[in-house]
Amino acid sequence: MTTAGSDQDLRVRIAGELERARNRSALLTEAVDETELMRQHSPIMSPLVWDLAHVGNQEELWLVRDVGGREPVRRDIDDLYDAFKQPRRDRPALPLLRPDEARSYLGTVRDKVLDLLDGVRFDDRRLVTDGFAFGMIVQHEQQHDETMLATHQLRIGPPALAAPPPPPALVPVSGEVRVPGSRFTMGTSTDPWALDNERPAHVVDVPEFFIDAAPVTNGEYLAFLTGGGYDDERWWSGPGWQHRQEAGLTAPLHWRHDGTQWGYLRFGRYSPLVMDEPVVHVCFHEAEAYAAWAGKRLPTEVEWEKAARWDPATGRSRRYPWGDADPGPEQANLGQRLLSPAPVGAYPAGASPLGVHQLIGDVWEWTSSGFEAYPGFSAFPYREYSEVFFGNSYRMLRGGSFGTDRSACRGTFRNWDLPIRRQIFSGFRCARDPRPEETAG
Ligand code: AVJ
Ligand code: FE
Repeated sequence: MTTAGSDQDLRVRIAGELERARNRSALLTEAVDETELMRQHSPIMSPLVWDLAHVGNQEELWLVRDVGGREPVRRDIDDLYDAFKQPRRDRPALPLLRPDEARSYLGTVRDKVLDLLDGVRFDDRRLVTDGFAFGMIVQHEQQHDETMLATHQLRIGPPALAAPPPPPALVPVSGEVRVPGSRFTMGTSTDPWALDNERPAHVVDVPEFFIDAAPVTNGEYLAFLTGGGYDDERWWSGPGWQHRQEAGLTAPLHWRHDGTQWGYLRFGRYSPLVMDEPVVHVCFHEAEAYAAWAGKRLPTEVEWEKAARWDPATGRSRRYPWGDADPGPEQANLGQRLLSPAPVGAYPAGASPLGVHQLIGDVWEWTSSGFEAYPGFSAFPYREYSEVFFGNSYRMLRGGSFGTDRSACRGTFRNWDLPIRRQIFSGFRCARDPRPEETAG
């Protein structure tokens, strides 16, 4: 049962999370001028001003109209900002709201939301139980903020964003960790803001496996590259090799060779590779080829989640590798505090009990799994968040990146993208089956 006191706490928490998301959207869209906001920086990305108004439109649809039961603010723009009606490549040519119009639209919607938040009851229907619809909208805005950050990384021009340098590695981390076979509870039925695809909790029998204690670093990936990995069909799957040929892949996206050494262009600034940072901007096919070259494989989605959540002392599944507490800056590189992954060993406080580091934050980690519904799944509150993407076309990513907000990141959180995509902040770690002589008993 929800008491009046805790309803008030929840209202304050929701208002704080809405504000944090909006401050980030503002930062990302005030960093460049009007022309840059309206321009398409890549055919696979929206103009920043489309993301901005789309965020406001989703907030209007779910919170103002559905939760609040209020009159529409701008019913006339619903189709413009419907991601399913407007393919990305067509978005720049649409009669979009101009940046000042979009900002004032978002302000109007937000005022109404804060007004209705004051009087909302959190127990009268499933959409608002524990503030779910508000949490969904917070996560939606933060997800688009991460998408806008990826657009910033694709943008050509002088730097527009700044951040402090990453923290140093505090402990050496290398090698792999043995995860014993056991039953494991995957997903959640209780995390109040978990999205439909994370539900329900269900038990999976996971055989013993080994997983790398850290994500694959730039230095390790460079050894694959300089060892001819991109030119050796042996390491690539059929579709992977075909894509590598057609797309002319020779290095991760944003890597540059300056004649002497490899470096990368990050948010408009060039720097030599930092060898102990996780590699980022690789597609699933590159991750899979590296793993084959290293004599390993990618983890399955359930293996990744077990490495991140399983408590060997109790067998219970926790929210995060370190326990149930929300991530702080000591546990994980999240929330765009930095503009890059941090070196392996920078977050010993975020390690799992078995000693797996940096599962949360730094880089999204490719897994070998397609997007399957958990047993007992039901779409909520709309099929277009997850259900329409189910199937083998996508590959699952886990753990969040330096550009993921903590509200949109937990041990159960599921992300997905096409196996050829690498504009996202994607890296990976390897896993493998036990060798016969390693099997217990
Ligand atoms: C879960 C990150 C794949 O950005 O396409 C945003 C999230 N869904 N608006 C995406 C989402 C609707 C989604 N991902
Ligand atoms: Fe969206």
